[in-house]
Amino acid sequence: MALHSSSPPVLLSLLIFLCYSAASAEFTLLPPSGTSHRRRSYPRFLGNFARPGVGVDKLAYTYETRYFSQPLDHFSFADLPSFDQRYLVGGDAHWLGAGGGPGPIFFYCGNEGDIEWFAANTGFIWETAPRFGALVVFAEHRYYGKSMPFGSRDKAYKNAESLSYLTAEQALADFATLITDLKRDLSADHSPVVLFGGSYGGMLAAWMRLKYPHIAVGALASSAPILQFEDIVPLETFYDTVSNDFRRESLSCFKAIKSSWDAIEDKGKEFNGLLNLSRTFHLCRKLNNTQELSDWLSSAYSYLAMVDYPYPSEFLMPLPGYPIKEVCRNIESSHDGNGLLDRIYDGVNIYYNYSGTVDCFDLDDDPHGMDGWGWQACTEMVMPMSSSQYNSMFPPYEFNYSSYKDQCIQDYGVKPRPRWVTTEFGGHIYAEDL
Ligand SMILES: *[C@@H]1O[C@H](CO)[C@@H](O)[C@H](O)[C@H]1NC(C)=O
Ligand SMILES: *[C@@H]1O[C@H](CO)[C@@H](O)[C@H](O)[C@H]1NC(C)=O
Ligand SMILES: *[C@@H]1O[C@H](CO)[C@@H](O)[C@H](O)[C@H]1NC(C)=O
Ligand SMILES: *[C@@H]1O[C@H](CO)[C@@H](O)[C@H](O)[C@H]1NC(C)=O
Repeated sequence: MALHSSSPPVLLSLLIFLCYSAASAEFTLLPPSGTSHRRRSYPRFLGNFARPGVGVDKLAYTYETRYFSQPLDHFSFADLPSFDQRYLVGGDAHWLGAGGGPGPIFFYCGNEGDIEWFAANTGFIWETAPRFGALVVFAEHRYYGKSMPFGSRDKAYKNAESLSYLTAEQALADFATLITDLKRDLSADHSPVVLFGGSYGGMLAAWMRLKYPHIAVGALASSAPILQFEDIVPLETFYDTVSNDFRRESLSCFKAIKSSWDAIEDKGKEFNGLLNLSRTFHLCRKLNNTQELSDWLSSAYSYLAMVDYPYPSEFLMPLPGYPIKEVCRNIESSHDGNGLLDRIYDGVNIYYNYSGTVDCFDLDDDPHGMDGWGWQACTEMVMPMSSSQYNSMFPPYEFNYSSYKDQCIQDYGVKPRPRWVTTEFGGHIYAEDL
């Protein structure tokens, strides 16, 4: 299996996605906001409004849950406490190689969330493993799920110092250490290891194949934006690609969304306009500004592009097959002579309320706070993104590193290193081959 990744990060990744038999982890992030006077949202993967665990059937696949003791810092010999990393093991029943010994190991590089959630939504691995006689291992990423240093989430996320061991390099070293120990334990020294991952986990899979070639023979990196650093790809790539998913569905849907931002701004300026918007969109509380609403809507469109599967799924939210088609149908329908914003509400209602069980929408559901991806985005994972004036349906936005950095200092007391990922893992050169 070849090292596998995507050059326009999302386009190809979405194609790979469609090939997956079950939803898998993917590229998710908060869209940029428009003319903001308010704090800007970070680009993120599984960020606000993504609710892990919604409708997840954890019993779909059987595995055993185990823990492995990891050093807090693989790169120093300081006397630091260790922590327990969670990992899931399945498929032992058919684990058999050609020569009668143990077969290969399919190793999922956990990303920024609870590992059970990814295991439940990565059917591709579970379904292909038996054909290869492969053992399945899902390893949780440190600082997520139950793999918390310092004994608890509160202690791990206390401050910049306690968070300083949350890096991709430490995570890769965890995986390498776990694989090496596990193989020795299972007397499977000769079992080839194939890495899998989606989204940030896909980046880890690709980078691990580069950094630890003696540990893994291949990596399947799905929806892995390893080129979304510095200026390797045009900064508009992500939002242009998402916008194209809507434009492809219908030009009028694209145009309606594109014109809704101004309509929201205008409405917000009216007397009682924020109250009116809050009611139109069935929000639980009154909006403080229109930016909150625009961010919430933008998130829905981005996530919809990421989970635009041809079949019903529940990875981020319960959704019908081809959800963008459904959203656009609502946005375009002019029944009852509905105004633009009513139709936009009808559209995003598909994303946020397909189950029909939500009483009101809570924009504070997952408030900005000390979350793991926010920290990673403020340290190593600086993925600059802009929204173009013409090709994007999102509010125009130009990435501004200076304000990005200021926000990180304010939120986490840390200054990002935007060139570190390409220094550590490369990108500029292999971009030419992808
Ligand atoms: C918002 O204001 C418009 C008039 O500008 C009105 O037609 C509409 O009913 C109002 N919506 C709500 C939910 O108050
Ligand atoms: C909205 O404004 C209210 C009152 O001004 C404030 O208490 C609340 O924290 C604000 N909410 C957000 C999310 O900014
Ligand atoms: C969710 O959908 C149900 C059923 O269509 C509807 O009654 C309810 O008002 C919707 N919730 C929101 C917040 O719009
Ligand atoms: C970027 O943000 C800084 C504030 O952090 C501001 O001073 C500067 O004018 C901004 N640059 C552009 C091009 O908007």
